[in-house]
Amino acid sequence: MSEGALAGLRVVVSAGPTYEDIDPVRFIGNRSSGKMGFAIAAAAAKRGADTVLVAGPVTLASPAGVDRRDVRSAAQMHAAVLAALPADVYIGAAAVADFTPATVAGGKIKKRPGGGGLVLDLVPTADILAEVASHPLRPRLVVGFAAETGDLEANALDKLRRKRLDMIAANRVGVAGGGFESDDNTLHVYDAAGVRVLGPAPKTRLADDLLDLVAARLS
Ligand code: PMT
Repeated sequence: MSEGALAGLRVVVSAGPTYEDIDPVRFIGNRSSGKMGFAIAAAAAKRGADTVLVAGPVTLASPAGVDRRDVRSAAQMHAAVLAALPADVYIGAAAVADFTPATVAGGKIKKRPGGGGLVLDLVPTADILAEVASHPLRPRLVVGFAAETGDLEANALDKLRRKRLDMIAANRVGVAGGGFESDDNTLHVYDAAGVRVLGPAPKTRLADDLLDLVAARLS
């Protein structure tokens, strides 16, 4: 890692899950501790970047030198990321909910006597990453993540092209010792040059290695 390699650049990183409220006491959300995104933000700040970290609801301490903006829902994350532009680099490591309840109940939804299920009406959230990549203030480098339970390469390449990204870091989720919540991970990073496999390694190390690739693309 070369200290100061990102000096003068603005890097926006999203991290953690989003919580989509159903009623005042319940939500739906994705499994994410924020460790991957926080490690990337910490590494960017260490390299001298003006770093904005848009964080979903997590329990992690703020990395040194980072401008942290806490959000809860996908809509709030969407607004906070767009408000952080212009930037030179956007890295979307957050596990954003793809769907949110169409309406939030004003009071706690009660179980009906005698049973019976509950059907939720879910509507799609805005795709923050795709929007940033097509924005008039598009960062020079837009890096996405892909969390996959199968066919890592095909799904990652599809997201890379469809969302008009420069680079995508794909990881397997739902398997022991990787993806969300753990300290370690393995990233398959795809861009126009092909694929590089980072790890398995601690997320702090992976963040450094990913930023080496980002710095190389910017130079
Ligand atoms: O937080 P940790 O516990 O450390 O776990 C790390 C991680 C597994 C969450 C992380 O490595 C990761 O894979 N993050 C992306 C999770 C995800 O939502 O992947 P996806 O394949 O569903 O989404 C693809 C990309 O689109 C992601 O960059 C995501 O941030 C972005 N997206 C998705 C939906 C949406 N509405 N807006 C988005 O910007």
